[in-house]
Amino acid sequence: MQINPSILSADFANLESELNTIASADMAHVDVMDNHFVPNLTIGPAVVKRLAEVSPIPLDVHLMIENPDKWAISYAEAGAASVTFHIEASHQPIDLARRLRAAGAEAAVAIKPGTDLSTIVELLPEIDMLLVMTVEPGFGGQPLIKDTLHKIAEARKLIRKSGAKIRLQVDGGVTESNLGELAQLGADSFVAGSAIYNHSDRALQIHKLRESARLGLGRS
Ligand code: DX5
Ligand code: ZN
Repeated sequence: MQINPSILSADFANLESELNTIASADMAHVDVMDNHFVPNLTIGPAVVKRLAEVSPIPLDVHLMIENPDKWAISYAEAGAASVTFHIEASHQPIDLARRLRAAGAEAAVAIKPGTDLSTIVELLPEIDMLLVMTVEPGFGGQPLIKDTLHKIAEARKLIRKSGAKIRLQVDGGVTESNLGELAQLGADSFVAGSAIYNHSDRALQIHKLRESARLGLGRS
């Protein structure tokens, strides 16, 4: 089980110290946005490279960009431990997942709330993690879209059926109060931006989220 704080809600003028406040988490979730795939713009490979050098925990890089087939490898080379690209943006997803793994990163694929799970089935043998978005990608602080919940259970079934060892990540609107249910439905990697960074004691928030996940997993 993973708790991965999203630094999208951190203070971008102080990212090194903001990363140090989440050292008790599993991975730091880094949202890369290009202002084309989503209507927001964040950082690129040069900044990710420095973050990887100073971060106390490995980086989980979530690419919300057009043409990941061309750009994703540069994030693996920048030191990301895991690179997630969107199925909606990739033209050759199997090839890209293979290239990410060959570059030494874990390969992961994300689907937006409106995208059907059938689009990722053939990718399951090629990936380490599946990210089911629980908000429309682009911004932190949005409420979880309830309609995405059935996809989590469905995704877990598909993963089980494939026999592959794949983490199931949820991202968007994850809070202490809904995390238990998400875990029960089959998620085991939880991204949380505002639920962690909007509080002064980040270690305490990470602990609370971990406890909620544990309770949820116990019920599943
Ligand atoms: C949204 C990003 C998320 C975002 C989540 O497009 O992918 O990682 O930071 O933020 P919260 O947890 O505040 O919904
Ligand atoms: Zn994200």
